[in-house]
Amino acid sequence: MRSLRAMGFLCPRAGTLCSVTESRMVPPPRVSDMLAWIDGSVLPLRDARIPVNDHGFLYGDSVYETVRTFQGELFRLSDHFRRLRTTARGLRIPIEWSDSQLAGWVEELRGHLPVGEHYIRLLVTRGPGEFSYAPDPSQKPTLMILGGPFQATAREVLEKGLVAVTVGIPRSVPNPRNPGLKTGNLLNSRLAYFEAIERGADEALLLTRSGHLAEGSSSNLFLILPGEVLATPSIESEILEGVTRTVLLKLAREVGLEVREEELSAECLVQAEEAFLSSTSRSVAPLRSIDGRELGCPGPVTRRLMDGFIRLAGGL
Ligand code: PDD
Repeated sequence: MRSLRAMGFLCPRAGTLCSVTESRMVPPPRVSDMLAWIDGSVLPLRDARIPVNDHGFLYGDSVYETVRTFQGELFRLSDHFRRLRTTARGLRIPIEWSDSQLAGWVEELRGHLPVGEHYIRLLVTRGPGEFSYAPDPSQKPTLMILGGPFQATAREVLEKGLVAVTVGIPRSVPNPRNPGLKTGNLLNSRLAYFEAIERGADEALLLTRSGHLAEGSSSNLFLILPGEVLATPSIESEILEGVTRTVLLKLAREVGLEVREEELSAECLVQAEEAFLSSTSRSVAPLRSIDGRELGCPGPVTRRLMDGFIRLAGGL
């Protein structure tokens, strides 16, 4: 895995390279290994172009989904389509393609990728337009489907655990966009991630503006509180309703865990016996410390959920 230093990440405050040797976040495939589907053509991602007046570029006016395969099958594709449509509706970007058209184009792209596990990113922008916010009925959204080989992290590596720190950047900005929408406006998350890696951690934990727990920069947060209680911030807590989160909550209830989905104060971090993050690319990623406090890693409950997830999805 390339280090962030090698990738040339800059620390925002100091304007110098971050002193991070290695990030244990799962990287997406290298751009050089990826293909893009645009307008019915499949081409190397490096050669893919969008016009500079695309509002996705001018205004961050875009929505996206990340999907992966387990044993060659796309995981919860229809849930990702549903969230893509909800986000697009929230931004008033009309999506005229049906789920079966989208799925067909995803398969077309996958047909050009090497056999194995795949990472797929669907991206819809408002499309090329004037330098104006004024609604333009003739503006056509741009659809891009990007894909490449997906390298899952080995369970032994996952089980070493990640280090997380709470950061000062809130999940939402004072004039908020809805954090439940998966839009292309990712600056808070990105700055939060920078802050975390500057402090030697692998992932940032963002709080809500009122100081409650929200989520990771690109993941949802779960805590195991005394008494084997699985606690996670509710969807009202300025989080993205992760597809993996939904799967894990159902699984936890099925295996008889007590589940608390509610506003969680930052003090819960101190009570937690175990903690993990969830996301499409990391499935269940145990945390070995939060703000320097060591946690059971992976503790018994996390291990049970990892096993359950493997049974359900076919892998981690
Ligand atoms: N990130 N919260 C945020 C802010 C995210 O960006 C993500 C996903 C999640 C987890 O959602 P899901 O389980 O549906 O992947 C939570 C993806 C992986 C990404 O940004 O590519």
